[in-house]
Amino acid sequence: MKHIGILGLMVISTFLISISSKAQNNRLIVNTDQGKTTISKHIYGHFAEHLGRNIYGGIWVGPDSEIPNEDGYRLDVMKAIQNLEIPNLRWPGGCFADEYHWTDGIGDPKDRPMMVNTHWGGVVEDNSFGTHEFLNFAKKIGAEPYITGNVGSGSVEEMSKWIEYINFDGVSPMSNLRKKNGQEEPWNIKYWGVGNENWGCGGNMTAEYYANEYKRYATYARNYGANKLYKIAGGANSFDYNWTEVLMKNIPISMMDGLSIHYYTITGTWQNKTSATDFDKATYLVTLRNAAKIEELIVRHGHIMDQYDPEKKVGIIFDEWGTWFDVEPGTNPGFLFQQNTLRDAFVAAISLNIFNKHAERVHMANLAQTVNVLQAIILTNDNEIILTPTYHVFDMYKPHKDALLLSHHLSSEELSIGDDKMESLNVSTSKSEDGTVNISIANINPDKKIDLDVLLRGMDAKSVTATILTAPEINSYNSFEKKEVVKPTEFKDFKLSKESLKISVPAKSILMVRVK
Ligand code: AHR
Repeated sequence: MKHIGILGLMVISTFLISISSKAQNNRLIVNTDQGKTTISKHIYGHFAEHLGRNIYGGIWVGPDSEIPNEDGYRLDVMKAIQNLEIPNLRWPGGCFADEYHWTDGIGDPKDRPMMVNTHWGGVVEDNSFGTHEFLNFAKKIGAEPYITGNVGSGSVEEMSKWIEYINFDGVSPMSNLRKKNGQEEPWNIKYWGVGNENWGCGGNMTAEYYANEYKRYATYARNYGANKLYKIAGGANSFDYNWTEVLMKNIPISMMDGLSIHYYTITGTWQNKTSATDFDKATYLVTLRNAAKIEELIVRHGHIMDQYDPEKKVGIIFDEWGTWFDVEPGTNPGFLFQQNTLRDAFVAAISLNIFNKHAERVHMANLAQTVNVLQAIILTNDNEIILTPTYHVFDMYKPHKDALLLSHHLSSEELSIGDDKMESLNVSTSKSEDGTVNISIANINPDKKIDLDVLLRGMDAKSVTATILTAPEINSYNSFEKKEVVKPTEFKDFKLSKESLKISVPAKSILMVRVK
């Protein structure tokens, strides 16, 4: 060392990234007897677009495939989704929605016209997965369908007839056509999106133009029988607060049930989104900090909505969120196929904790996307599937669905890497109908276990169970060769005494703790 000298030491220290966490008491106070808002299960929704191997090869292989299937739906994928009990599934896009013409996807599959999926890889779409295939899939997995209609290249008449086709119970040209195609009863679907990203791929419209279009389309998006549509306006691109302001000002709240927001966690730039698996600790923290910006978005869009809708009737529908990295080397750039590491699990945990916290305004959220695309919950090859770390977070977080949001106060030490810092702990608290208190905790510190003192105020707790998700490295992932590198296991490192719970939260871990 003495050969290096002072100058050498200075040079080395500027190149070393310092990782530190300020010593402080880590404390969580959970008000177990205070809560008024239910966390809608729809916050745990998903999104499957005609993009890459999401629908074709992911969900749908067709009835003649050698891959084991039920009526054309891939069995392994379907079972994994059924296990997750997903509350809703958004379809057919995304950008694809605004170039999709629903009449191409009904009737005998061999008579369905083909089209080019210009947004996603320029591949030929044979329309073998259409309205019936989607709605029957939603039924099989027990999810509510959420359809996005075409505003960008469609017409009011086309969207209006699609709704009549799906939901009308009487005798009409569209309901007769549905019956002719084998579906006697209407599906009575509720969630309907009026376009997607109409500021961009959905027509490059201004907010003022879209607000008028929305009113025109929504007028003819009819309710049939007792079924009332929940209409969702295409919302802002991330931080475009003007879009929300214009829509809230110009669209009467009697015409709009939800307003969408899209936000992707990008780590580099849109041109260089960086690798999904190859990253250092500093980059890891950048990703997680960017994920946490979801809170700023909800608060700021929410403030604007409060001016026009103080009773919070219009829900924020976060119908596209998740990580977006560079595609895996050698894969089609238009297919958006990326691996999924423990870092993605943290993005999911942090995002879901934030959505829960703002459940009064956030009525639905949809992770992008379900199979083989972006922050997928499932990856497939011809014969096998992998459950990603993100899948496991959704599995562990099930108790939060439709539970009562509990208020809490958290003091957490910070994780600092270089100039970047963020609280090490990220938490959400809720109470299930049977009185069980649910605490999801993420400790993002890659190296340090945190001793957390929890005060369960107002509770005479008797027992605790917990599940943990962690892995050898922050960039560990499940592959077809090693499918269970990242998977939940039972966790026992806690001590309970009435109102007091002490938990040793391991480094880089996500916990779901359930107290009775
Ligand atoms: O999820 C991928 C794409 O991202 C969607 O099609 C679009 O809505 C968004 O830009």
